[in-house]
Amino acid sequence: MTVESAQPESGTPASPELREPPLAGGRVPLLGHGLRLARDPLAFLTGLRPHGDIVRLKLGPKTVYAPTTPALTGALALSPDFIIAGPLWESLEGLLGKEGVATSNGPLHRRQRRTIQPAFRLDAIPAYGPVMEAEAHALTRRWESGETIDCTAESFRLAVRVAARCLLRGPYMDQCAERLCDALATVFRGMYRRMVVPLGPLYRLPFPANREFNRALADLHLLIDEIIAERRASGQKPDDLLTALLDAKDDNGDPIGEQEIHDQVIAILTPGGETIAATIMWLLQALAEHPEHADRIRDEVESVTGGRPVAFEDVRRLTHTNNVVVEGMRLGPAVWILTRRAVADTELGGYRIPAGADILYSPYAIQRDPRSYPDHLEFDPDRWLPERAKDVPKYAMSPFSVGNRKCPGSDFSMALLTLVTAAVATRYRLETAPGSDGTPHVGVTLRPHRLLLKAIPR
Ligand code: HEM
Repeated sequence: MTVESAQPESGTPASPELREPPLAGGRVPLLGHGLRLARDPLAFLTGLRPHGDIVRLKLGPKTVYAPTTPALTGALALSPDFIIAGPLWESLEGLLGKEGVATSNGPLHRRQRRTIQPAFRLDAIPAYGPVMEAEAHALTRRWESGETIDCTAESFRLAVRVAARCLLRGPYMDQCAERLCDALATVFRGMYRRMVVPLGPLYRLPFPANREFNRALADLHLLIDEIIAERRASGQKPDDLLTALLDAKDDNGDPIGEQEIHDQVIAILTPGGETIAATIMWLLQALAEHPEHADRIRDEVESVTGGRPVAFEDVRRLTHTNNVVVEGMRLGPAVWILTRRAVADTELGGYRIPAGADILYSPYAIQRDPRSYPDHLEFDPDRWLPERAKDVPKYAMSPFSVGNRKCPGSDFSMALLTLVTAAVATRYRLETAPGSDGTPHVGVTLRPHRLLLKAIPR
C-alpha cells in the first residue's frame, strides 16, 4: 500500500474558458438547497447527477460545489488542489483534537501517514489475525442464547475491541477495551449533531443528553492518556501502532509532542471503530435479507475449512464472501459524504472552482448510480466476479477513497469484515426480529437505524 503525496502549493491555473458549473434545481429563497440537504441528504445527493457532472449548491449564502460522476470524484480525490478543510472538519477537530492524521494537511499529514503506515501494511495484517478470529468467534458464541440481537451494540463492540486490541496491544488494553467501547459509542451518537448543527454553548447546557455526551468525551480523552501512560510505564515496545507513535520523530528529528500522540490515537480509533461497526450492521442486514447468499457463504467456508471454525488464513480464499462484503459496502457505504476545500483557483472536469470553495460529494450516490451499475438497487454480489467487475467505471466503487487521503485501514477492514461475515453465516441463519428498523440512519456514518435480528443455529 503506498501513500500518494500531496503538494498543496501546486494549484492548476484556472483558464478563462472554464465553465461555471450549473446551479442545481430545487433551491428555496434564503436557505437555498440547505433545507433539502438537511431533510433528506441521501435523496438529495442521489438526485443531483441529472443536473450536471458538477453542480453548484447554495447552502444559505455559501456556494458549495458537488461533483456527481465517478470520474470527477476520483479526479477530486487525486488532485493536490483540494485539501481536507471546511466547517465539518473544524467541528470534528473541536471535539477530537487538532493534531491527528485525519484532519492534518501538507507536510504534517505526509509525515503522520509515514508514521502510521507500517501498522496497516498488508504484511502487518496477519499479526492481527488471532485477535480478529477471537473477537469474531466470541461474537457468534454470545448469540447462542437465542436472544434478540441488538446489532448496533454488538457491531460497535466488535469494531472497537478489534481496532483497539490490534493497534494498541497489551493486557491493559484488553481490560479497558470495554470502557473505550462505551465512551466511543456515546461520542459517535452525539458527534454528527454537533458537526452539522454547531450550536456551541447550547451543547454545554446541563441536559441529560449533553451531560452524557460530555462525560463520554472526557472519559475517551482520559482513557487514551491512561493507555499511553500505561504503555510507557510498562517499558514494553510491541510492534504496533502505539509504539510507532511513541517513537515517531518530527521533521527536525525531535520526538513528537504528547498532544499529537494523543490526537493521533483518537484520529485513528474513531474513524476505524465507527466505519467498521456501520459496515458490519449493513452486512448482517444483507445476510438476513438474502439467505441464499448466506447459504453460499456457508458452503464456501465449509469447502475451504472442511468444517473447522473459519480462521484468518482462510480469508483470501473466500471469494464469494468477499464479494458479499463489497456489495454490502456498495449499497451501504459507511462513509456516505466527503468534503474538500480548493486551495487555489483551479478546475475540475473543465469547470472553474475558485480558491477557498468547499466541495462535497457522496460515495452513496456514486455507488448507487444506475449509469454505473445495471439493476443498481439489487443486492448482487456476483457483479464483482472478474468478468463483470471490469465493466464498473473507474472510481465508481471507492468506499475507502483514493489518493493521499485513502483510508489506511482498508486491508485491515476487508480482512476483518470477510472473517466476521464468514463466521456468522456458517453458524447462523439470521432473521429480522420484531421492532427492527433497517432504514438508513444518517450520522457521521451511514448505518441501519435499529437493526434487531434473531440468530437461528444452523
Ligand atoms: C480515512 C473509509 C476503516 C482509519 C478514510 C476515508 C474513507 C474511509 C473513505 C477517506 C476520507 C476522506 O477522503 O476524507 C473507511 C471504511 C472503513 C474504514 C469504509 C471500514 C469499512 C478504517 C479503519 C481504520 C481507519 C479500520 C483504522 C483503525 C482511517 C484514518 C483515515 C481514514 C486514520 C484518515 C486518513 C488520512 O486522512 O490520511 N476511511 N475506513 N479506517 N480511515 Fe478509514
